Amino acid sequence: MKKLGEIYSESIESALEGFYERYSHLPSLYTPTQYILSLGGKRIRPALVLLAAESFGEKIEKAIDAALAIEVFHNFTLVHDDIMDHASMRRGKETVHKRWDENTAILSGDVMMIQAYELFEHYDKKTFKAVVRVFNSVARYVCEGQQMDMDFEKEKDVTMAQYLRMIELKTAVLLGGALAIGAIVGAASQKDVDNLYDFGRYIGIAFQLRDDYLDTYGDESTFGKRIGGDILEGKKTFLYIHTRNRCSSMEEFEKAFAIKDEESRIEHVRELFTAKGADVAICAEIERFTAKALECVERMPFSGEVKERYRQLARALGGRTK
Ligand code: IPE
Ligand code: IPE
Ligand code: MG
Ligand code: MG
Ligand code: MG
Repeated sequence: MKKLGEIYSESIESALEGFYERYSHLPSLYTPTQYILSLGGKRIRPALVLLAAESFGEKIEKAIDAALAIEVFHNFTLVHDDIMDHASMRRGKETVHKRWDENTAILSGDVMMIQAYELFEHYDKKTFKAVVRVFNSVARYVCEGQQMDMDFEKEKDVTMAQYLRMIELKTAVLLGGALAIGAIVGAASQKDVDNLYDFGRYIGIAFQLRDDYLDTYGDESTFGKRIGGDILEGKKTFLYIHTRNRCSSMEEFEKAFAIKDEESRIEHVRELFTAKGADVAICAEIERFTAKALECVERMPFSGEVKERYRQLARALGGRTK
């Protein structure tokens, strides 16, 4: 079976080309937006919009603007996230604020948020209202999740429950929202919209857990981000919380994080994570959320073949390497 990205990539990339052309008049503002968007990425969120719409019998063309809106919004969050996380590499290339400067990254991010709304304007009144309602609630959740992520950097004893709520907000609801919006464009019932949203939320939690895993254990050239970035930023990830909960003395834990040299700090913290079984435990947690997503698939009103596509997607995201 073909991967989701492969199925929809042609539609998404060609729609993006048309989108770039509409914003060529002020290069200092729009070149960075085109830069980040054209670095690629997996295009999971727009593919989810298209998949959901198509599953309910709608044409791709009808859902493409909503799909672009979600991808443009996602890229906006990445540009601002990279400032907040002091990240210099994204998709294997320089981040926007490194390549230009922070002011450029702030404003180019802002304008992408507006562009997302402009894309939604292409829908009729009823669809627009329903789609923007979901989008607004999701976008606000993302801000809340991002703020919690920042707040947690300064706190030592973040619980696993707090962490799971944070990643649900900063990441998972957008995957849920993408599916819900696609389903709305496909005129699905509220019950089906909600079920697709829950499916997306569960795969989204697994997706962020996998992101945290790859941030420590991934391969930089494949992952496209600096390995160990979360450790250097003091992020309260699953790996951190699991390990901290299993250290008999805080001395051992704090010593690893206090190492001056960055590369050596990353290496020692990674070893400690592994020694406490955090790498194995996070994979089990990914499985747990994937299983929840698979339960939602059973409630979807689709043919066996279409349902299988959702199952395959859930499994693929949990095991991704980039
Ligand atoms: C990165 O999202 C931000 C997270 C929520 C982990 P992706 O991993 O989907 O990034 P791209 O779009 O494929 O680059
Ligand atoms: C990102 O979480 C979530 C959002 C951008 C909203 P991360 O900070 O872990 O994402 P990456 O690893 O930089 O892509
Ligand atoms: Mg972040
Ligand atoms: Mg980040
Ligand atoms: Mg990350």
